[in-house]
Amino acid sequence: MEKCPGKKKNIAVFISGRGSNLKSLIKYSNHKRSLINIVLVISNNPNAHGLKYASSSKIKSYGIKFKSRISFENQSLKLLKKFNIDILCLAGFMKILSGNFIKKFSKPILNIHPSLLPKYKGLNTHSRAIKNKDKYSGASIHKVTKRLDSGKIILQKKVKILKTDNVKSLKKKILKIEHEIYPKAIIKFLTSP
Ligand code: GRF
Repeated sequence: MEKCPGKKKNIAVFISGRGSNLKSLIKYSNHKRSLINIVLVISNNPNAHGLKYASSSKIKSYGIKFKSRISFENQSLKLLKKFNIDILCLAGFMKILSGNFIKKFSKPILNIHPSLLPKYKGLNTHSRAIKNKDKYSGASIHKVTKRLDSGKIILQKKVKILKTDNVKSLKKKILKIEHEIYPKAIIKFLTSP
């Protein structure tokens, strides 16, 4: 694992559900020589299963009901400031953050998306790739801007779509590489000029 060039970066992760990408990020952050400390997890869904990974790893976590975008974003911004967050990672976070939030936070925000961007922004990426008879699909980590799934791509990995694949099998294959590339993308983001 890479050398840590300085103080570890404070990371917040936003999730909405299962949290398997959060789990992979926690696993990486627990390596002695990782470049990050995950210090805050926020879910827009207080019942998100992923919140359990945060509490079992003794990471501060908050389930903030999404009553309105503005109230969710204002509460989150306060926490991001309080925990001195350097980078926000979206991991299966199914809400769209406003341009105002992105501007006010003012630090990098990364997202994981289950397609080879710029292909298939938005939802139902796997069924769209299968329907179009694509030979490959994959996952992308990109910077978040106010344009949905359109920020600079940091890292991508592709998987072959077999004739026998369906949405379920493709989702499974891609999730596996998601877990692999999110930590790698963070390392790349923090270490490449
Ligand atoms: C992942 O496939 C992610 O790319 C997508 O939603 C899924 C979330 O999975 N946006 P998990 O909550 O990280 O397990």
